[in-house]
This record gives sequence, C-alpha cells and structure tokens, in this order.
Amino acid sequence: MSAALAIDVRGMTKRFGKRTVVDDVDLAVATGEIVGFLGPNGSGKTTTIRMICGLLRPDAGEGTVLGLDVRTQSAEIKRQVGYMTQRFSFYEDLTIAENLTFVARLYELDPVDEAVAKTLDGLGLTSRKDQLAGTLSGGWKQRLALAACIMHQPKLLLLDEPTAGVDPKARREFWDEIHRLAGDGLTVLVSTHYMDEAERCHRIGYIAYGRMLATGTVEEVVRGSGLVTFVVHGALKPAQIRSLEATDGVEQVAPFGATLHVVGTDRGKLEAALEPLKREAGIKVEPGETSLEDVFIKFMTGAQERAA
Ligand SMILES: Nc1ncnc2c1ncn2[C@@H]1O[C@H](COP(=O)(O)OP(=O)(O)O)[C@@H](O)[C@H]1O
Ligand SMILES: [Mg+2]
Repeated sequence: MSAALAIDVRGMTKRFGKRTVVDDVDLAVATGEIVGFLGPNGSGKTTTIRMICGLLRPDAGEGTVLGLDVRTQSAEIKRQVGYMTQRFSFYEDLTIAENLTFVARLYELDPVDEAVAKTLDGLGLTSRKDQLAGTLSGGWKQRLALAACIMHQPKLLLLDEPTAGVDPKARREFWDEIHRLAGDGLTVLVSTHYMDEAERCHRIGYIAYGRMLATGTVEEVVRGSGLVTFVVHGALKPAQIRSLEATDGVEQVAPFGATLHVVGTDRGKLEAALEPLKREAGIKVEPGETSLEDVFIKFMTGAQERAA
C-alpha cells in the first residue's frame, strides 16, 4: 500500500446494462490534497465517487482507498470515508440537534450527546440547536451537512456537488472550511460544476462520457489542452463574428465582457484568421490567456463528437 495516496485506483469501470458509464478511470489523490472532479452531467462523477467509497462494486478496476482494497474491503472503507451525496439534505422538520443526533447514531458514535455538542460548538450553532433545520439558510444547511459528514472523523471526504445552488458568499465560506480541513490532513475529492471552484483545488480531473480526459493542476490542464487564445478588443459587427467563427483554425469564439476570446489549437491558422481584423479601425488583437472554461468546452465538444 502507498501511505501517501489516499486514493489510488486504476481502470475503474462500471456498466449499467450494456452502457459503460465509467470507463477505465485512473485516479490518484495524495493525502491532504483537494482534488476537484469536473465534467458535464451524466459523465460518471457520482458513479465514480460511489465506487471509491465502497457503495458500488466496480465491474473492473483495482486499487486502494485509504490503503484498503477497493474491491474487497468496502465495509471498512465506508467507515473511514465521509460522503456527502448530491442534493444531500437534512430532515427539515427535525431540529439541528436532532438531525446531528440521528447521524451520530448512524455512525454509532459514543457518547452521542458529546459528539453532537462538539459538532454544534464547532459550527457555532449551539444557541440555535433547537431550531428546525428547514429554517436554516442555504449556506448554513451546507455547513451543517458538511459537519455531519465529518462527525465520525473520516480520513477522506467525498463531496458530490456540495455547493450546487448555494450563493457565492456561502460557497466561499464552504471552501474556506474545506481548506481548513485539508490543512488538518483530511483528503477531499469534490465534484463541481463551477470553474471558480476548480481553481480552488490543488488538482483537478475532467471526466466526460465516462472517460477521464485530463488530470493535473489547473495550469497543467490548460497547458495540456494545447489551446491558444487571442483577445479581440473593440466592437465587431455580428457578420464579422460569424465569419470569424467559420474561418479555418478558429475553434471557439466567446464574448468575455467587452472583449472576444478567439480560441484554436493551431497558432498559425488562428493568427491568419485574425489578420484581417487587425487592419480594422478601432479593433485591437492581442495574445490572451486560455481559460479553464475554454478548455472544458473543447473537451466537451470533442467527447460529444466521439459519442455521436
Ligand atoms: N443505477 C443506475 N442505473 C442505470 N444507469 C445509471 C445508474 N446510475 C447512473 N446511471 C447512468 O450513468 C451515467 C453517469 O451517471 P452519474 O455517475 O450520475 O454522472 P454525473 O454524476 O457525472 O452526472 C448517466 O447516464 C446515468 O444516467
Ligand atoms: Mg452526479
């Protein structure tokens, strides 16, 4: 076993009927690392997470989670992992304390009252413990859910789109908390749709149609995409944008505020495509930075074309 890796799995594969929804996925996550798991809906994020935490048996693949065999030691893995499911929610008509008590009993924490009191205190919710969970704001609900997932002091936290529908300030606070936990040695694998959240991870993995298309730091993934970006300043006419989109070498044209990002793989072709615009009055073309969004759109389009 590799102690430095909290997750070390290879070839993870899951089929539902004839469909392969997770296809030969490798994933390595170091202890204390925060890894973001990105990809369009239906690409296999939840299924992968469920295989890692021992809830779903892989059809193929091997490796370890927390040093335990992912194929044969799922019961032990489950005990040491905190898993926050997609659209996780509490019993809205139970109080905050009652909800936490329920979770504490589920994990057979002993004594229950002490575990609950400690969690309430950590959240700063002791004075509100008798409030119904349903009356909490979205941000507080997320914090409570997170606290419940780590009540049994797991070593690995699996979060499945934990911040979907949460406002930006609450998301920021949620991420501050994740970083605090990781600083204390907890390993975190978190699926998300948000680009800004990807930037907050130590590393990311991008999955589409069951295939892991890229892993690495955000910078590595952007560089590895081979995309080149130019930024066009100035007002282009709709016809000019359409003709740019139709030009060979131009893969993406996307407005970013008052500018236009023009993205492609072949620098020479891209420069040639932009050459006529450079001569226009009031238009300026300069090299830009490729955004993670540009990269993901390329991945998604490519995966869609292969699947079609
Ligand atoms: N229990 C299941 N039975 C059949 N198909 C499933 C089941 N769970 C998930 N799927 C299918 O597997 C694919 C991947 O789903 P999922 O892992 O939930 O993707 P994501 O979390 O990335 O949105 C989807 O097409 C989904 O419909
Ligand atoms: Mg999902």
